Amino acid sequence: MRFIIFFLLLSMPAWVMSQEGSSKYEEYILTPEPPQSPQINSTALYGLRPGTPLIYRIPCTGKRPIKFEIEDLPKGILLDEETGIMTGTIKNPGSYTMTLKAKNDHGNFSKEFTLNVGDKLALTPPMGWNSWYTHYDRISDRTMREAADQMIATGMADYGYQYVNIDDCWMMKMKSKDPDVGGKRRDKDGEIIPNKRFPNMKGMADYIHAKGLKAGIYISPGPATCASYEGSYQHEAQDAVTFAEWGFDFLKYDWCSYSKVAGKKSDPDYFIRPYRLMWDELKKQDRDIVLNLCQYGMGNVWEWGGDVGNCWRTTGDLGLEEHKNLPGFYSIGLSNARHAKYAIPGGWNDPDYILIGWVGDAHGMAEGTPTDLAPWEQYSYMSMWSLMAAPLIFSGDMAKLDKFTLNVLCNNEVIEVNQDPLGKQAILHEKTNQQFIMVKPMVDGSLAVGIFNLKDGVQEISIKWDQLQITGNKRVRDLWRQKDLGVFSDHFTTEIQPHGVSMIRIFNE
Ligand code: GLA
Repeated sequence: MRFIIFFLLLSMPAWVMSQEGSSKYEEYILTPEPPQSPQINSTALYGLRPGTPLIYRIPCTGKRPIKFEIEDLPKGILLDEETGIMTGTIKNPGSYTMTLKAKNDHGNFSKEFTLNVGDKLALTPPMGWNSWYTHYDRISDRTMREAADQMIATGMADYGYQYVNIDDCWMMKMKSKDPDVGGKRRDKDGEIIPNKRFPNMKGMADYIHAKGLKAGIYISPGPATCASYEGSYQHEAQDAVTFAEWGFDFLKYDWCSYSKVAGKKSDPDYFIRPYRLMWDELKKQDRDIVLNLCQYGMGNVWEWGGDVGNCWRTTGDLGLEEHKNLPGFYSIGLSNARHAKYAIPGGWNDPDYILIGWVGDAHGMAEGTPTDLAPWEQYSYMSMWSLMAAPLIFSGDMAKLDKFTLNVLCNNEVIEVNQDPLGKQAILHEKTNQQFIMVKPMVDGSLAVGIFNLKDGVQEISIKWDQLQITGNKRVRDLWRQKDLGVFSDHFTTEIQPHGVSMIRIFNE
């Protein structure tokens, strides 16, 4: 019966689905409920610079209250035992390994965690939320604070989501008559002036930090942002200081109008110059600020992005990508997959945000409506992003998260693939018009594999151990359902839904 309903839904026009919303997909939920006992979902590795403040809320599911404890807590770091929020600084570079512990009435859990104090940040892909595809130029201080509240309340923070990032439109706008955003864009000393919807930037970042989360901001190296708000051009050093003083932990630096001032394209530094400038300025701050390059993949950014940033967009905007036979995340994802060899801890290919749940059409900067992606398309999307070690930044509406969307965003075994400390991006194999596979080596020697069905109908797909260059008996685990499927000796065959995925992990027996 379930299958029949599923196929009826898939054959419905997209508008029928979007009218009804994605909550009706509850029966397609695959991720099991987390246990009542604690389960720490923290990454194993975290990068921090010497002497800069750490804010890290241990991601942990299970029934609260939970009591947290850390064995071998390094000097300089404090733990709030009730919230699991770690704060403080470490002066000396080095690798500090500790055991995170969580306990409640139902049981206890411990996990090893290493703080790498050095010059590298984002040792695993950043996870969080960005305001763009829901709020566009309607974004305000209040919505940002609410997004932080929702990141805790929905449980997303318990799975590792931690950045609450504002996108474009927080500054004053060029030539605007709107009293909220029009007017002087910098003060007499050149300090940037946020628009009236952001009365207290530092207060907003403090609010986000008090929850153990991190705050992100956006600007362009050009004179204006993509939506024609004030840019950083000729104020780069000053803006870097301002962002650090306000307390931001992440900067998306979007090329936009920079072409107007970039000089000659034949200059070998043409693409890299603005990013190197901001990277150097950020390093001077006594805060760790992750730098996200946004320039849509120009000048083969994957070849040099890691020298001047922590992640770099490899393509144009996903929200503007056309839905042809397949939804746009497939073409964007497959384009991003070509640059797998450039991903390393601290430097990630970025195929743009996770657009599921309620999302506003980017063409008209519209109000959100429920995604028209079918359930299995959403599993494919999240699987691809996880396998590609892409930043996991959700950009749908935090206030309208339903159970199905949360089940896609918050499967700890899927996220573990994304956050694996080896930091390899999956390699694309066997791509045809009908299917492909993605293979990601994991730190424990296992392989995370996505088998994707591009056909409009159900398809049975086999992968042979030869194709994966492995031999012998292997235990295969279904990551979405979190279930072992058995031991297989030379191949694995499975039936896959239209535009869907089987995401498995193959362990040595
Ligand atoms: C560009 C970026 C988007 C978004 C907008 C904001 O299009 O690629 O991600 O930041 O600018 O104007």
